[in-house]
Amino acid sequence: MSLTEIQRLQTLLPTWVETNRLLCANGKVASYIPELAKSPIDALGIHLINAQGNSVSAGNSELTFTMQSISKVFTLILALMDNGESGVFDKVGMEPTGDNFNSMLKLELVQPGIPFNPLINAGAIAISSLIAGESPTEKSRRVLEFFRLLSNNRSLDYDLDVYRSESDTANLNRSMAYFLKDNGVLEGAVEDVLDVYFRHCSICVTCTDLAQMALVLAHNGTNPITGEELIPRRYVQIAKTFMTTCGMYNASGEFAIQVGLPAKSGVSGGILTLVPGRYGIGLVGPSLNRKGNSIAGVALLEQMSQTFDWSLF
Ligand code: DON
Repeated sequence: MSLTEIQRLQTLLPTWVETNRLLCANGKVASYIPELAKSPIDALGIHLINAQGNSVSAGNSELTFTMQSISKVFTLILALMDNGESGVFDKVGMEPTGDNFNSMLKLELVQPGIPFNPLINAGAIAISSLIAGESPTEKSRRVLEFFRLLSNNRSLDYDLDVYRSESDTANLNRSMAYFLKDNGVLEGAVEDVLDVYFRHCSICVTCTDLAQMALVLAHNGTNPITGEELIPRRYVQIAKTFMTTCGMYNASGEFAIQVGLPAKSGVSGGILTLVPGRYGIGLVGPSLNRKGNSIAGVALLEQMSQTFDWSLF
C-alpha cells in the first residue's frame, strides 16, 4: 500500500525542519517593536492539518508568538462580513504597492488617498475602523471571538507585553492613522482605531492555531472537521486573492513563483498558508529575511511545495 502524503510528511518534515533551521543564522528577528526582539532566533516550527483532522507537527510547533500582520487577513474578512464589499472597498484598494508595509508614501501621492490594499499597515488600520461595535472594546472583543471561533481555540488571547510594546512605540503607524483620518478614510477617534489594530496584531497563537484558521480558508469558509460554515465563500475568495498578491510583502511575486500558495506572514515570523481543498498550515520562524519573511520558513515551504507539486500556477 502506498503511503499517503500526510504519512510521507510525518517522515520528512522533522528532517526538513532541522536542515532549514540552519538558515536562521542568516536572518534577524524584528526589533522595531521592542518586545519582539526577545523572540528565539533559532526557532522553526510547523503544523499541518487536513480535512479529516489528521495532522503533522515538527520542530518548535508549540512556540507561542503574536499574529502581527497575519491577523489582517481575518480582520479584513470580519470587516467584509460587517460592511459588505462596497463598504470595505470604498475605503481600501485592491492593488499591491511595491512599497514597505509601513509606508505612507502613496497616501499623499496617489488620489483619492486611500490605502492600496488591506494587508499593508495603512489598509489594516482602515479595516480596524470598519469593524462593527459601539466602542473599541466591543470591536476588539468581536475580533477576538471571531479568531477563537476560526482557530477552534476558546483560550486564544492577547500577549499584553507585545501589545503595550507596540502601542508605546508606534510613531509611524500613529502618524499614518492621523493622515488617514484627515483623508476621510477613518471613522471614529484615531487612538480608538489604533487600539483595535494593536490588539489584533498582539493575539497570541501557536502553529496549530494558525493551521486551524488556514484550514477554514482551504475549505472555502467551512470548518471541514465540524461542518460549520464560518465565512461566506466570496469573502474567503477575496482574502485568498490578497494573500496571493500582497501576503508576503514585496516578496509576494517570488513566493507565488517558488511556492505558489496563498499565504500571509507577520513580523513575529509566523506564516499562515494553505493548500486549497486540502491542508491548513501554520509555521513560525522568527528570524526574518531582508523582505521581512521568515527566512527558514519560506525555504521550508518551497521544499514542501516543490516536492509535492502544490503550486496552484
Ligand atoms: O503594525 C505593525 O507594524 C505590526 N503590528 C504588524 C506588521 C507586520 O507584521 C507586517 N505587516 N504587513
